[in-house]
Formats: sequence, C-alpha cells, structure tokens
Amino acid sequence: MRDNAPTWFEVLRREVKRSTGVVIEADRAAFAASRLAPIARDLGFPDIAHLCLAMMGPQRSRIHSKVIDAMMINETSFYRDKLPFEEFRGAIMPQLLNARSATRSLRIWSAACATGQEAYSLAMMFDEEARLFAGWRIEIIATDVSQSAIETARAGIYNQFQVQRGLPVSQLLRYFTRANDT
Ligand SMILES: C[S@@+](CC[C@H](N)C(=O)[O-])C[C@H]1O[C@@H](n2cnc3c(N)ncnc32)[C@H](O)[C@@H]1O
Repeated sequence: MRDNAPTWFEVLRREVKRSTGVVIEADRAAFAASRLAPIARDLGFPDIAHLCLAMMGPQRSRIHSKVIDAMMINETSFYRDKLPFEEFRGAIMPQLLNARSATRSLRIWSAACATGQEAYSLAMMFDEEARLFAGWRIEIIATDVSQSAIETARAGIYNQFQVQRGLPVSQLLRYFTRANDT
C-alpha cells in the first residue's frame, strides 16, 4: 500500500478493479470521496472509510452494489462515437445479412449499456432497415454493472438534454413520445 493513500481508497480501488475491471486512477481519491459521501450518510456510516471497509465485511450485500454503482462513469449518448455506428450500418449490417441468412436471427449485446442509449440507437437503426430484415428475429441485450443505469435504460425515459445529444430530430419525432419535460 502506498504511504500517501488513505486505506479506504486502496480498498475501494482494489474492489472496483476486482469486481468490474475498472481502474480508478491513484489521484481520484477526492472524486471517489465526493461520490461515496452521500452513500455513507444514507447508510448510517460515520465516514467513507467505514463504508469502504464495511463493503468487504458481513454487511457486503447491502453496500457493495451501491458503492460500485457510485464509482461508475455512466457517460453515454445516442449514437455516441459516430464512426462505429456508421461502420455498423454500412459494413457490418450487410455482412450479417449475408452470414446469418440461413437462420435469420441476430443477437446483439450492448455489454456496458449505461443508461441504454447505445441499445436504443441500435434498435432504431434496425427499425430503419426493417425492409432488409423482414422476417428476422433480432434481439438486443443490454447489461451494465450499474443498477441505477440499468433502471434508467429499462424505463427508457430521457430528458431534453439527453435527446439533444446525438439523436437526429427525425428519429426523435418518430420513436419518442413527449411527456412533460421528458
Ligand atoms: C462510459 S459508459 C459507456 C456506455 C456505452 N457503452 C457507450 O459507449 O455509450 C461505461 C459503462 O460501463 C459500465 N461498466 C463498467 N464495468 C463494467 C462491467 N464489468 N460489466 C458491465 N458494465 C460495466 C459502467 O457502469 C458504465 O455504465
């Protein structure tokens, strides 16, 4: 353990790396503290050091997923990273049409979907190409280690800011329903 690192931070970094593969950089203690302080307070711990140590003990089941969730960066948007989506439509879709013509089925995994925009972007893209995929079975599976992100993804409710990032207006009008501010 490094001399200048708080013990709770080393415990946290090790556990996040072990359970998700995500590396928290050594200079992110202040960031971690800002994310964990509300959880420590809500769960009745005197400080984040107690919270992080308790995460490894008998109270693990009620703490672990909340701490892991808080440490994830759920940054995403519709059609985030334009190029991969363009490649998917222009190069990969035609290949899949050919390669899967016998079974006419596809299963696509958005393995770290955050709040769901990646999976919904794919769904809209397939819907726009529905003529090519008539009669096909297409599944899009979305998973994420962050429970709060998954809940948002499942709800499929996005605010103005979220739908203004990357989503063409034509798709906004076609695939979304306005409800108050969402
Ligand atoms: C920056 S977001 C990317 C979201 C989306 N794939 C995109 O590119 O727009 C990274 C997501 O990875 C998730 N994540 C990190 N480690 C994970 C793991 N081991 N299993 C599942 N999801 C994980 C985080 O919770 C976060 O929501």
